Amino acid sequence: MNISRFGSEVITMVIYKCAKCPNAFEVVFKAPCTPKCCGEDMVIVEPKTDDFKNEKHVPYIEKQDGGFLVKVGKETPHPMVEDHYIVYIQICADGIMMRKYLKPGDAPEAFFKTDAKEVRAWEYCNKHGLWKSNQ
Ligand SMILES: [Fe+2]
Repeated sequence: MNISRFGSEVITMVIYKCAKCPNAFEVVFKAPCTPKCCGEDMVIVEPKTDDFKNEKHVPYIEKQDGGFLVKVGKETPHPMVEDHYIVYIQICADGIMMRKYLKPGDAPEAFFKTDAKEVRAWEYCNKHGLWKSNQ
């Protein structure tokens, strides 16, 4: 389960992923049972914080006038094609969650208008799962 401490706030996000197909579900309320897909128990997705090989997934947060720009791939943008793209970018800004959904062809970035002091970011890649900023 993805539990992040953010100042005094505790953020809990639970995403289940199918082991056989790309289906992923976000839990609104967690009960003890485990959802199934393709005939098997789904697994909880843990967020990753370190990039690997040439894939750049860790969200990069940049303070700008009026808010924060979050990019996936600081120098080299993450692919945004039909079978491999960033599904959403999300931030927690002083305890308030904001999410921007993306689609193939979009830039792998999102601007969030906020005057928050503390910001954390996540993104979900349809191929490589959940990633969290390490800032
Ligand atoms: Fe990816």
